Amino acid sequence: MQKLPLEKAFLYVEPGPVVLITTFDGKKNNVMTISWTMVKDFDAQFCLLTGPWNHSYQALVKTKECVMAIPAADIARKTVQAGSCSGSDTDKFKKFGLTPLKAEIVRAPLIKECFVNIECKVEDYVKKHGIFVLQGVNVWINNKNKDKRLFHAVGNGTFTVDGKKLNYRKIMQSKLPAGI
Ligand SMILES: Cc1cc2nc3c(=O)[nH]c(=O)nc-3n(C[C@H](O)[C@H](O)[C@H](O)COP(=O)(O)O)c2cc1C
Repeated sequence: MQKLPLEKAFLYVEPGPVVLITTFDGKKNNVMTISWTMVKDFDAQFCLLTGPWNHSYQALVKTKECVMAIPAADIARKTVQAGSCSGSDTDKFKKFGLTPLKAEIVRAPLIKECFVNIECKVEDYVKKHGIFVLQGVNVWINNKNKDKRLFHAVGNGTFTVDGKKLNYRKIMQSKLPAGI
């Protein structure tokens, strides 16, 4: 075993897929990229890490709503681009050819080009840690999306794309809730 710098530890903890978070501040739609997320419970609770240095933060705090839009690898490049500029001076939907669709429950838009869209209510913001706690209230999937591979940030501007699937359902059976 060799020692690794402490700041590299997170790379080896499953980071979840890179996601897009959409917001509507009452005037404009916006979208940002997030790779630091966490599943909190089976009944669609999630956490994401962000803070006041991003334009999206104000809309998240004010409206207490967002959509977690999950891109497949076919729009990985656009997803990274959306995380490399700010909604304070850029219409990212227009600039990166993302299509906002009306959601059913929240005012933040779904993204047509994303494989999955989860409408969320903000349940809490833990200021000390910059953690938003989200409750999913509606989920959409586009099964016609040809690319169903999610992608993951693995540090230094590099990403992995989902590949081979392992099925250990029999081992985990007693631990899985019905229907999962
Ligand atoms: C791959 C990728 C992952 C990112 N992950 C996060 C994250 O987990 N938390 C965060 O606050 N910002 C993250 N960012 C940065 C924001 O997406 C970026 O600051 C964005 O410009 C914010 O947009 P806004 O100012 O319109 O809200 C990430 C950017 C990229 C490209």
